[in-house]
Formats: sequence, structure tokens, C-alpha cells
Amino acid sequence: MTATPERDMAAYWDRAGRVWVEHQALLDRIMAPIAEAVVDAAGPVNGERVLDVGCGSGATTFAAAWRTGPEGHAVGVDISGALVELARRRAGEDGIEGVEFLLADAQVHAFETPFDAIVSRFGVMFFPDPVAAFANLRRAIKPGGRLAFAAWRSPEENPLSLVPLKAAAPFLPSMPAFEKDAPGRFAFADPERVRTILEASGWRDIQIAPLDVASPLTADELMTMSLRVGPLNPILKDADAALRGKVAAAVKEALEPYVTKGVAEMTSACWLVTAEG
Ligand SMILES: C[S@@+](CC[C@H](N)C(=O)[O-])C[C@H]1O[C@@H](n2cnc3c(N)ncnc32)[C@H](O)[C@@H]1O
Repeated sequence: MTATPERDMAAYWDRAGRVWVEHQALLDRIMAPIAEAVVDAAGPVNGERVLDVGCGSGATTFAAAWRTGPEGHAVGVDISGALVELARRRAGEDGIEGVEFLLADAQVHAFETPFDAIVSRFGVMFFPDPVAAFANLRRAIKPGGRLAFAAWRSPEENPLSLVPLKAAAPFLPSMPAFEKDAPGRFAFADPERVRTILEASGWRDIQIAPLDVASPLTADELMTMSLRVGPLNPILKDADAALRGKVAAAVKEALEPYVTKGVAEMTSACWLVTAEG
């Protein structure tokens, strides 16, 4: 078994960030309810300071900024230059006040002014040292401040990740696997691991609840998500056209049962995690 190549996170997200930039509108549409659920759980109000960790192109930061208002401050932090650049451009184009984007590693960055709340939509599963990272985030929050983030549950509960990988496996040198407990999209699938990490980094009142969000996709979007955005993307990055063609055909066939009248009613199976600093 080979691991999905998510080891060197800065290099990984430098490349993956450009893919996310390309598909920003699709990703934001599918994941909008998850940003709302995370921001609702953190409950920021007018005038507060909120940090969005692994903010990507800024959707969750913007959702927080609507609550904190022009007198508040919503700060997005990300290690992908391409995504931070897009987030800054969107903030400027949409004239959103009270937002700022930092290009920095949230595991180690020394945040200057403390926050009332920290939020994240799928941006906290990639830390090489999660206990150090969450301890750093706890130092960035006011006493009693709120943490809320969404993380993926298991690959088995998220067929959009698993089905394309399994379909591609016969054409790959070895079956790619999601490493349990290693940095990557499924690093927080085990809720007990999440609890242990948060407790070890000093967070209190930890709550972990399932969050299932309907993510309808057209058949074309389903293929884009499977081949371009999902876990097959880094695996196929050096593949020739013939291999790509075979994998695409196998993935299409494997996903057919999920498509009815041109639409796939996929579900995003997540954990909604909250804690107090
Ligand atoms: C799955 S994407 C989610 C992006 C965004 N939150 C969204 O929902 O659209 C994960 C994000 O985490 C960022 N990231 C990974 N490790 C990070 C770190 N150590 N510090 C800051 N950002 C990080 C990546 O660059 C990427 O933008």
C-alpha cells in the first residue's frame, strides 16, 4: 500500500491550492452549508475578532465577517499563496470590510492580538504536529473564547473520496490508502483522536457531533470533484493521457449508481467540533 502523498504540507498545498483556486466556485457552492454551520457554532457577534484557520479562498472568513461587521475583524490564515491571493482579491472585489488574510503556517505563527473565536472548515487536519498546532491556536484565543471546526468523518462515510480511489486502484501500481492518524483529509475521522489532541493542547468543554450535509452535483461536477479535486488528483498528476483515460472511464462507471437524472445526491459526512479556550 502507498500513502496518499500529503506528507509535505506546504508543498502539497502549494500545488493543491492552485487546483482549489481553479474550482473555487464549485467548492464554495457545495460546502456553503458547512461554513454556515461552523460559524453558527462559534457564534461570533458584531465587533468581535475571529480567526479562520486554513481559510483557503476565504468563504468561511467572509461568513464570519458578515457577523462581526465593519467594527469587528475576521482574519483568515493559510499556507497556500495562491489561495490567500484569491481570498484577498475576493475581499477587495466584493468590498467586504473588516477582513484580512495572512499567508502563514497556523501551527507556529505567533498571532499578535487575541481572538474571541476560531473557526475552520476543513483547514485543521493537515498539521504535522496537531497538539502543538492546537496549543498555538489556544494561545491565540481570549480566555473562554470559542473554537468551532468541521473535519471529515471516515472515507467509508464519504464515497466521493473512496469510490474514485477504489475504481482507479486496478490501474495504479498499488492501492492508495488513507493513513489513519497522519496529516491529511481524514486525519480527524476518529473522534477520540480529536478529543485527545484537543485535551492535550489545553482546550476544554469539547463537543463532537456528526454533521451531514447534502451536496448535490451534476454528473460533470462529480467527475471534476473525483479526478481534479479529490484524492486522485495528486496520484494522477504525472500520469499520461492513456492512464488518465482508463481511470476516468473506471471512475465514471463506479459513480454511475450515485447519479439519477443527471444529478448525484452526495452527502458530506463531517464532524462539527466545538471547544472552549
Ligand atoms: C481542505 S482546504 C480547506 C480550505 C477552506 N477552509 C475551505 O473550506 O474552502 C485546507 C486548507 O488548509 C490550508 N492549510 C493546511 N495546513 C495549514 C497550516 N499549517 N497553516 C495554515 N493553513 C494550512 C491549506 O492550504 C488549504 O487551503
